[in-house]
Amino acid sequence: MVKKCWICLILILVLGVSGCDKRVIDGQQVNKKEKIIIKFSHVVEENTPKGLAAFRFAQLISERSSGSIEVQVFPNSQLFKDGEEFEALNRGDVQMIAPATSKVSQLFPQWQIWDLPYLFTDLDSVHRIMDGPVGKELLDQLLEKKMLGLAMWDNGFKHLTNNHHPIIKPRDLEGLRFRIMSQGILEEQFYTFGADALFLPFNDVYKSLEEGRVQGQENTISNIYTKDFDRVQEYLTLSQHGFLGYAVIVNQEFWNELPGQARELLENTLAEVTQWERVKARELNEEQLLELQKREKMNIYSLTTLEKSIWKENFLPVYSKLEQEIGPEFLSKVKKQCEPIEN
Ligand code: LMR
Repeated sequence: MVKKCWICLILILVLGVSGCDKRVIDGQQVNKKEKIIIKFSHVVEENTPKGLAAFRFAQLISERSSGSIEVQVFPNSQLFKDGEEFEALNRGDVQMIAPATSKVSQLFPQWQIWDLPYLFTDLDSVHRIMDGPVGKELLDQLLEKKMLGLAMWDNGFKHLTNNHHPIIKPRDLEGLRFRIMSQGILEEQFYTFGADALFLPFNDVYKSLEEGRVQGQENTISNIYTKDFDRVQEYLTLSQHGFLGYAVIVNQEFWNELPGQARELLENTLAEVTQWERVKARELNEEQLLELQKREKMNIYSLTTLEKSIWKENFLPVYSKLEQEIGPEFLSKVKKQCEPIEN
């Protein structure tokens, strides 16, 4: 009996000193099992507005929670590609995603306003919608599918890349097939000018351009540059015809189960990263355009203001189409909030 007690005492001492259970809750070394893990899946490269913001968010959260919350970022469709992300979020395979608004519009048709060609004249008008009542109304719709929209991020304005011939006038689109990121308004945008449209997930775009399944695509400079689309495209028309932004979404059930303090930290940090992301997005798109120009792989043409206004007029049937689908009231509310605020 005495011998047994001695063995126990020695074991306790040895384990204590040698650190068999080394867990020290000093914030730096938190037991893995106690950690809150947030898997954040997205489809673009790391050196993009979304990629960098996701990474910054993860870093800040790790620092500020002293390691007790870990945001694990999976870029480049590593875990899930377009069309799989929503279900993965719903199943709880990932806890956070940031799909393009066009992809959200497949679930909630009013989100197609983000795809309307030439609706937004500049990023200020985009942010007025994102941060105003329309943005809130749109994010609230996600709750129907047990998703919570926490923030809206920018990428930037979309441009056209293609093969075959340069695109300067809307009728130059005729006969070409373009990859689109969602069905509906984006299809309509190309059909209006006699072009064809094919819906493809982002990770299939390069190959499809290379193989000629599609002759063109529309995207931001950042996505064109980081995906090397200029290796498989001859022309870039700086048309600035549409906007590409993101909704940062979490699984609602997961969110509700988080401790209040964790939610607060995540929310505040995300709000800060959102402001950072919007500045970064603008900078990156500018820098990467210069890089594309330096690479000299594509012929680049920038539409003039007059040419853009002609394009805009020609796109009016697309607006009527969306009006029929989502109702005139919502659209006129959006248009009104896009207008610059008079001082
Ligand atoms: C695309 O599919 O072209 C984009 O939505 C990718 C992205 O997330 O920026």
